[in-house]
Amino acid sequence: MHGSSTSTDSTLTTVSGVPASRLSNTFDSWQASANPGMEAAFARCVAVAKGESTKALLSGRPGTGKTHLAIAAMVEFGILRSLLWKVPDFLDWIKNQAYDKELEMARILRPYREDPFLLVLDDLGVEQRTEWAYQQLYRVLDSRADNKLPTIITSNQLPDKIDERIVSRYRSGLVVCAGKDVRSRFDV
Ligand SMILES: Nc1ncnc2c1ncn2[C@@H]1O[C@H](COP(=O)(O)OP(=O)(O)OP(=O)(O)O)[C@@H](O)[C@H]1O
Ligand SMILES: [Mg+2]
Repeated sequence: MHGSSTSTDSTLTTVSGVPASRLSNTFDSWQASANPGMEAAFARCVAVAKGESTKALLSGRPGTGKTHLAIAAMVEFGILRSLLWKVPDFLDWIKNQAYDKELEMARILRPYREDPFLLVLDDLGVEQRTEWAYQQLYRVLDSRADNKLPTIITSNQLPDKIDERIVSRYRSGLVVCAGKDVRSRFDV
C-alpha cells in the first residue's frame, strides 16, 4: 500500500497519503463559523473518526472543506491507521500494476477490502465506469461496505452524478454539503 508510513522524495513529504502541509487540517483547526453549511459534514467525520459510524460520503462544491474534514478524521482516528488516496491517483496506480492483472490485483487490493484502517477516497468524480481500474475501485468500496470498514469518500459531484451503486451502499453516510467555497479565505 502506498504511504502507510512516512515517505519522502525530493519535493514531497506525505504521511499516509496526506501532504505534510495538510496535517494541520484537524478538527481543532476547523473554523465552524466560517462555513455553517458544513456542520453536518463535520459531525459525520467526527462520528467516523470516533468509530461511531463507518461511512461518510461528502458531496459538495469545491473549496467547502471536505478534504480538510477527511484529513481531520484521519488524524483523530490515528494517521498511521489511515490512508488517503485521491481517486485519480488510485486509478492510475491500479492501472500501472503488474500485467497479470486479476491475480496481482486480488493480492494488492486485499488489504483495501478487508483491513480495518480508515480509507479516505478523495475527489471521486466523473470516472469512466466501464474501465477495468474503476471496477477495482468499485469492488474495494463494495467490500468495505460489506465488512463495515471505516471509509470516507469526498466528491464535488452531486449525488445524482455519483455512481448509484456507491451512493446506495454509502447512503447512510451521505452528506450533501450546503457549505460555500471558502478556499481563498484560508489560502496563505
Ligand atoms: N471551516 C474551515 N475552517 C478552517 N479551514 C477551512 C475551512 N474550510 C476550508 N478550509 C481550508 O480551505 C482550504 C480548502 O478546503 P478543502 O481543500 O478541504 O476543500 P474541498 O471541499 O476538499 O475542495 P475540492 O472539492 O476542490 O477538493 C483548505 O486549506 C482547508 O484547510
Ligand atoms: Mg478536496
